[in-house]
Amino acid sequence: MNFESAASVKTASGNYDIFVHDQAIENVGEICRALDIGNHAFIITDTEINKIFGEQLVSILSQAGYTTKLYAINAGEDQKNLETVEHLYNWLLKNHVERSDFVICLGGGVVTDLGGYVAATTLRGIPFLHVPTTLLGMVDAAIGGKTGVDHQLGKNLIGAFAQPAAVVSDPQLLSTLPIRQIRDGLAELIKHGLILDKDLVDLLEKSSSNLRSLIEPHFIAKSSSIKAGIVSADERESSKRMLLNYGHTVGHAIEACTGYQTYRHGEAVAVGMHIAGKISHQLGLLSEEELNRQQHLITSCGLPSEASDVYLDDVLKTMRSDKKMYQGTLSWILLNGIGNAIISRNVSEATFRSAAETILG
Ligand SMILES: NC(=O)c1ccc[n+]([C@@H]2O[C@H](COP(=O)([O-])OP(=O)(O)OC[C@H]3O[C@@H](n4cnc5c(N)ncnc54)[C@H](O)[C@@H]3O)[C@@H](O)[C@H]2O)c1
Ligand SMILES: [Zn+2]
Repeated sequence: MNFESAASVKTASGNYDIFVHDQAIENVGEICRALDIGNHAFIITDTEINKIFGEQLVSILSQAGYTTKLYAINAGEDQKNLETVEHLYNWLLKNHVERSDFVICLGGGVVTDLGGYVAATTLRGIPFLHVPTTLLGMVDAAIGGKTGVDHQLGKNLIGAFAQPAAVVSDPQLLSTLPIRQIRDGLAELIKHGLILDKDLVDLLEKSSSNLRSLIEPHFIAKSSSIKAGIVSADERESSKRMLLNYGHTVGHAIEACTGYQTYRHGEAVAVGMHIAGKISHQLGLLSEEELNRQQHLITSCGLPSEASDVYLDDVLKTMRSDKKMYQGTLSWILLNGIGNAIISRNVSEATFRSAAETILG
């Protein structure tokens, strides 16, 4: 292959490359051949993405000599459930899928989470490859092997760790993505810099006047490599992977308190990062200047700085019932300076209240 991978993930359950470059979708067939991944390609996507990129991917794979079948689920988080999994099992089995075949997940986080889970559990696991089409997918959902679906009792409660054979990210596919979803992914991309890479934050600040320039391939590649590094160090979230939860303790609670309707995930995480940043400042870990830099970078992308329609007490109650509780104490991810996240179990209710009182309602 005459292009380099942007990063690689190395875990006990498998090693794989993440490719990030414009037109990368054109190389999917070649990548599959180089991996010798299987005979027949089963593409899983959603109806919206299929309209834009479905035919293109089928044709690229045909040119590489693969026979393909494609199944498009309806778009949306409400499809990420066991009923859709069942439809996909039926489709694969009726089409005589074999272990020597492979799945390609073409889509955002819904498709990669769901499709990865289906691939991981059909015939006890067939190989799969992710071609993310959202920014959130490229820098976050497609990397790290968390696959699964939602349950009536909560989001992402059913699933398995299963690593893809490769992730192929083509930033040009983002040209059709609505701006609100670009911001959604930017929250995670920026988060990767804030927790582990000060240089990335410096570079993002220089480009932050133009939203589209923040999603240049080199930023996506850098952010992907940060996530890849974390997952390689801690595949199953026992320690370092928890750093990825910066802004998420509060963010998940905001999403839950508003029924997942008002705030997109990245927006809720942005508000969560504001609060975690303020807590870090109050505990003497983050200087006022660093706090202002973080807040400015986040808001200059158009992400919110407050959620005054969400009650602080409701957020507190929801956080306490969240799975991030450890032996009765909430785990907080804080910044001990920009680019240096730490885990803390010593944030008192009073500290949280004082950091959040001007941000939540
Ligand atoms: N596995 C993980 O580690 C992980 C991490 C973060 C998020 N997630 C999951 O990711 C999901 C959210 O993913 P998402 O934000 O990518 O949303 P999504 O997959 O629902 O996609 C959002 C919408 O954008 C459309 N779309 C996708 N790509 C497009 C494109 N290029 N042009 C135009 N429209 C396009 C889709 O059809 C869909 O309607 C959640 O279910 C979340 O739980 C998983
Ligand atoms: Zn997130």
